Amino acid sequence: MSAWQGPRGLERATAFAPASVGNVGIGFDILGFAVDALGDRITVARSAKLGVRVTGCTGVTADLPLEAEKNTAGRALLALNVAARPAFGFEMHIEKGIPLGSGLGGSAASAVGAVVAANALLDTPFDKLALLKFAMQGEAVASGSPHVDNIAPSLFGGLVLTVGIDNPRVKRIPVPAGICAVIAHPHMFLSTKQARAILRREVAMADFVWQTANLAGFISGCYTDDLDLIREGLNDVVIEPQRRQLIPGFSAVRAASIAAGALGCSISGAGPTMFAWAQRTVAEAVRDRMVKEFGNNGIETDHWIVTVESDGARVVAQ
Ligand code: HSE
Repeated sequence: MSAWQGPRGLERATAFAPASVGNVGIGFDILGFAVDALGDRITVARSAKLGVRVTGCTGVTADLPLEAEKNTAGRALLALNVAARPAFGFEMHIEKGIPLGSGLGGSAASAVGAVVAANALLDTPFDKLALLKFAMQGEAVASGSPHVDNIAPSLFGGLVLTVGIDNPRVKRIPVPAGICAVIAHPHMFLSTKQARAILRREVAMADFVWQTANLAGFISGCYTDDLDLIREGLNDVVIEPQRRQLIPGFSAVRAASIAAGALGCSISGAGPTMFAWAQRTVAEAVRDRMVKEFGNNGIETDHWIVTVESDGARVVAQ
């Protein structure tokens, strides 16, 4: 990965870090894509007092802990602070654009935004891989484990595969032209910790073989513009069957999206948000059917149609 080319040595910076869809069905904890339509904005300023302080949190979720150790953005910034040992401290304000417990990578976006904004204040900034590792420590506060499938796409943009935890290798996967992601966020809260806790510790051999084949097929299909392989591969036989009971209307929403022409449809991260991949020509029909089926289950949604390719987190104000 190339060195981070952000601005250098500023007094204050605001970073936008996008939402993301973790897992993409078949890539549990290792695959994700950024959703640039919404995100968190994190402002970090130099302060005379050393250390890290979270001064406030506003936006769609305002009641997050302000103690840096207990806050995902604060924990990520503490990790950067220990490594950088700057001659100044950090004060941080968090503006949440991603609802808590939505399955859209809100905790990851806050952690990523914090380290991208703080990095712009350093005279000798870190590269993106170092920022990824700092942000992973923040993610662990929120979900209990340092998984990377939301952190990596929020930081790098696009569809991203990450291999390894202690020594993560990040690979941006190309997405065939004309493919959109349809995102439907039902107005309900689902705890990531709870959605992880219900998962069985063992996987049946037949499911292991299918899941491996599907992930390999999906990624091969992305590299070779093979939409049939993407359609076949976008089929999670391990995690989705265990979690779909947590989302009212899941089966109807999924079936309706496929009937409307989606290549595949599954749970975004730990849920309850659902996503589908579809060609641009049918994306609106897919969205309408998904929204209607959630509505039939008495649930209102926010929804977006986005291109999967995007730039990832960036400094937007100084
Ligand atoms: N990979 C994670 C999960 C994403 O599915 O539990 C949620 O943060």
